[in-house]
Amino acid sequence: MRDTLIILDYGSQYTQLIARRLREAQVFCEIFHWQTPEAQVMALQPKGFILSGGPNSVYEAEAPTLPDYVLKADGPVLGICYGMQLLAHVLGGKVAPGSHREYGSATVEIEQATRLLPAGSYTVWMSHGDRVEALPEGFRATATSPGSPLAAAEDETRRLYCLQFHPEVQHTPVGKEILRNFAIDICGVSPDWTPEGIVEEAVSRIHAQVGERRVLAAVSGGVDSSVAAALTHKAVGGQLSAVFVDNGLLRAGEREGVIEAMQARMGDAFHFVDATDTFLNALKGVEDPERKRLIVGETFIHVFEKKAKELGEMDFLMQGTIYPDVIESRAPERSAAHKIKSHHNVGGLPERMDMALVEPLRYLFKDEVRAVGTLLGLPDELVWRQPFPGPGLSVRCLGEVSWERLEKLRKADAIFIGELRAVGLIEQPNPPSGSIAQAFAALLPVRSVGVMGDQRTYQETIVLRAVSSQDFMTADWAPLPHELLARVSSRIVNEVQGVNRVVYDLTSKPPATIEWE
Ligand code: XMP
Repeated sequence: MRDTLIILDYGSQYTQLIARRLREAQVFCEIFHWQTPEAQVMALQPKGFILSGGPNSVYEAEAPTLPDYVLKADGPVLGICYGMQLLAHVLGGKVAPGSHREYGSATVEIEQATRLLPAGSYTVWMSHGDRVEALPEGFRATATSPGSPLAAAEDETRRLYCLQFHPEVQHTPVGKEILRNFAIDICGVSPDWTPEGIVEEAVSRIHAQVGERRVLAAVSGGVDSSVAAALTHKAVGGQLSAVFVDNGLLRAGEREGVIEAMQARMGDAFHFVDATDTFLNALKGVEDPERKRLIVGETFIHVFEKKAKELGEMDFLMQGTIYPDVIESRAPERSAAHKIKSHHNVGGLPERMDMALVEPLRYLFKDEVRAVGTLLGLPDELVWRQPFPGPGLSVRCLGEVSWERLEKLRKADAIFIGELRAVGLIEQPNPPSGSIAQAFAALLPVRSVGVMGDQRTYQETIVLRAVSSQDFMTADWAPLPHELLARVSSRIVNEVQGVNRVVYDLTSKPPATIEWE
């Protein structure tokens, strides 16, 4: 059994970050909602627990509680913010509501080092309304800040630890060390969650699940499905059939790039379907963005099912689901968010095909997926590829989607991306934060008057979009260098027939979205 820490989620916006920081320390951990049944959590034989922050107050009637099994397990427990208040409350301490709000950076003093905390004075991030005012018996204060005399506390004998501040956020630079101390020194977890360890475990898990049976996979050329397919192929070789569909909505060079990378890796297990005409016929005359999305999704399912039939009986369907998707789908209240766009990749396939799922990436964050991809020898262009929507260029070709308009768009997009790549602004390994997360061109069905040579032109418009973003939920438009924009604009109007105007999108998300449709 792999050494595992359990994070119980009490609803903090930072819970995923706790897992991120631990994984960076090569410690394996799993996040569960605090109401997850005991059997499911304890089946992992946790080496320790972390209780996350949360928006509630321990005194509220419906406040989330501490499941009995946590203290019974007799392992180390670390309570963060609400987690600290909850521990204190349950063990007989006193939590004072409301009046001591503290939000933002604070300085904590740690006079004496403990196994958890290094001695010194540190900047930390506070975000709380309630605070602990009297510690339970057996605890002592280990850190203070001007706003929180009990900024940290512990009961070394029972191995119970509390932090009022958030060690998981970037604004607490010492936080990484604290979480590592908890996981490795106090809980005794061995830091073996490395790309090599991940691959080894994924391969043996796939093996155990699939045995001698057959797996079908849809690969899109995106990072997740490519890495998932490479892992599955490593585990079960020729029992895998990976299908890549060209829907005519790919970017310039993408079809060739994906075929080359995947065929080299998988040989006969890789299958290619050119369904350009099917998709473009289905999209003929359609201008509404939601209808485009729906049509591309449904057409994909038809094309894929037809190919699957040809390939014969399959037992499993492989999906490139990654850990953040798993966590999201576990939290029912988060999926109730207002629908802005119907996102899809191969959505609808699992229900339709009624096959058991193989999900080799379901415990991995995006950067872990990338590290695994690199270890498996996938090319950098693929591993560091920016996200690309399932409906492809259909949602970047505003108005009607025709081959001719798609070709205009592909050429303009390739010029923009090529220039960004040439100056190292996109798709570089390990991009620094604040760098460009996504960049592309979109074609607008807006014609304007221009003059080229001595000729009047009346042609369409290309808009350039480049954004920085951590999670694609919010994004800022990127202040690209003017010389670069000038070069791209001049190349597009000169090299792409039918485009006489280039504009740059200066809108952040919100209020805009990243894509134009
Ligand atoms: P928006 O435009 O909603 O996009 O700000 C946020 C991120 O999601 C990508 N996107 C999609 N990804 N299927 C996907 O897998 C889709 O249908 C889809 N639509 C948008 C978009 O490129 C951006 O990264």
